[in-house]
Amino acid sequence: MPYAVKSLACDPSKLEGLSEKLIVGHYVSVYCNTVKRLNVIADQLSRLDLPKAPSFLINALKREELAALNSMVLHEIYFESLGGSSMPSGELIEAMQRDFGGFEPWHAAFASLARAQAGRAGWVTLAWFPRDSRLVNLAGTDLDVNLAGGYPILALDMHEHAYQMDYGMKAVGYIEAFMKNINWERVTRRYRAGSQGGAISLDFGAPEPATTVSQ
Ligand SMILES: [Fe+2]
Repeated sequence: MPYAVKSLACDPSKLEGLSEKLIVGHYVSVYCNTVKRLNVIADQLSRLDLPKAPSFLINALKREELAALNSMVLHEIYFESLGGSSMPSGELIEAMQRDFGGFEPWHAAFASLARAQAGRAGWVTLAWFPRDSRLVNLAGTDLDVNLAGGYPILALDMHEHAYQMDYGMKAVGYIEAFMKNINWERVTRRYRAGSQGGAISLDFGAPEPATTVSQ
């Protein structure tokens, strides 16, 4: 199994406006199953005789692999991004000032992108863009939200499975709840790692007591 499931990095019992049942169900039913699917795809690819395999089969598996890889990573960033309530500070707020004109303009832009994604099964991310040494807000699906060379530091899941249990079709309430629960300390660590060329998978560990989920 080349891909391992990461522990649920936030404490789902302590989030304001996001129920424990919603977060744990999302983690188990979507994230854990995505990693399982990714391992099945990887196994299928490893059994393929690539020089002899038909193009349509190679293309289908590689497309599914890319979508599952992005879904895995973005879900990990999403869950790691939850569990805080404070404002960003230090180098991150300085970067927001430089690239968006401050925290409030960034917040308004990010929330607007999220509202536009409601019902579209997509993601909204804040990413470090090494080419131009700046932060950018992005919106799209598993296959097209990621910027070549970009490094996502914050991810908001706008698929209905991320909010329907608590909010029905009212995505706006979910977006507001997510924005109130951002763990800025972790987002700042991601920003620092991205802007310094670090690894995308940071070890934030599991909250105490660790959430045990059968897989
Ligand atoms: Fe999701």
